[in-house]
Amino acid sequence: MMRMYDIIQKKQRGIALSENEISFFIKGVSDGSIPDYQISALLMAIYFRGMTDEETITLTECMANSGDRADLSSIKGKKVDKHSTGGVGDKTSLIIAPMVAAADMGVSIAKMSGRGLGHTGGTIDKLESIPGVNTNQSCDDFTRIVNETGLCIIGQSGSFAAADKKLYALRDVTATVNCLPLIASSVMSKKLAAGSDCIVIDVKCGSGAFVKTFEEAAELAQLMVKIGVGAGKKTIALITNMDVPLGRSIGNSLEVMEAADVLSGDGDEDLTELCIILAANMLYVANAAPYDECIKAVTKTLNDGSAKRKLAELVSSLGGNSDYIYNPSLFGESKVSAFLAAERSGYIYRINAESVGKAAMILGAGRSKKEDSIDHNAGIIFHHKVGDYVKEGEVLATLYTSKIDMAQNGIELLFRAIKIKDSPPKNKKLIYRTIGGRV
Ligand code: URA
Repeated sequence: MMRMYDIIQKKQRGIALSENEISFFIKGVSDGSIPDYQISALLMAIYFRGMTDEETITLTECMANSGDRADLSSIKGKKVDKHSTGGVGDKTSLIIAPMVAAADMGVSIAKMSGRGLGHTGGTIDKLESIPGVNTNQSCDDFTRIVNETGLCIIGQSGSFAAADKKLYALRDVTATVNCLPLIASSVMSKKLAAGSDCIVIDVKCGSGAFVKTFEEAAELAQLMVKIGVGAGKKTIALITNMDVPLGRSIGNSLEVMEAADVLSGDGDEDLTELCIILAANMLYVANAAPYDECIKAVTKTLNDGSAKRKLAELVSSLGGNSDYIYNPSLFGESKVSAFLAAERSGYIYRINAESVGKAAMILGAGRSKKEDSIDHNAGIIFHHKVGDYVKEGEVLATLYTSKIDMAQNGIELLFRAIKIKDSPPKNKKLIYRTIGGRV
């Protein structure tokens, strides 16, 4: 008879687990027969001892099979999914899903997204900042919306990759989130269960990401591509910079407004460039056209306004008021706004993304526990970027919150996140490497 005690001890000694042992573990996580303390003990053993690629692939498959698997066969054309491993100010899904749909090249987006947790934001919270939006749609409505508009984004239901929900909650409280095989299996099990034909993974790397170094990000990217391809899905991973927040806004309605600006061709340069590249990769991985043509096609959707109209269509189809996409002043203002001024003249040398994410969370834009409620209008807008020259006293950022007592804490955290020096920093790349798919 298999015993959880022996499995924990085997991994503790650094020995690879068999397919049967991994399957026993995931079955026990799903049916509740393995207590939390034994699950947590194995997670910690995996954290320290790692897993071989074969173990990780088996773990992913078992997790993907631990709940429902979406059947997207009634959706026309190729279905492509995109996932970010989590960052600060990452509103790319709100921009690239409409770009891909508006390009009208036979590629649809049937996407399930998550909520933010800790210092990282989530697409569902951003969408729900628009009054009326309901991201909890039935399977029938989900497929109908994709067939009608070419895209739909709904909340990730706990019934997909059910074991991940339990495992992620335990990892979150046992300091075992930051472990490559556990991240890869968590992300890819949900992607496999979500049923798209092809997958683009944005592996965030830097101070605001779960993985901080390029080496770790490359290992994670390779592993996820191997898992995707092994499961018969064409998969591309891009390793992208998350040392600084992405774009100029952090916070839910603020990020929707920024997404609308990018879709009007009026957005931050780096964010726009990253979105063009991610959207083009989504078309390319689905074999829609050669890569250069994909770039041209998605760029056109920004220039002719079609991608912005698609975002408005998505909002309406989810029951939301699409006027908010065209008229951001409808969002209204937070009770309190505060300003952070430059303490000295010089070049902005660093803006630590993780601290910025934590500051936004303190202001009310994020949750520290799953059950916390969020303030959709809270957050931060930066008026300058890394590399800009600023004068002493110039406003660097505006902070929005409804919690008066939190504004000062947010300012203090943000103050420590920003370094100003006499000389500018070296330019960091926006995209470090692409793995899989394109040669
Ligand atoms: N995102 C996930 O879905 N899972 C992880 O483990 C990390 C980021």
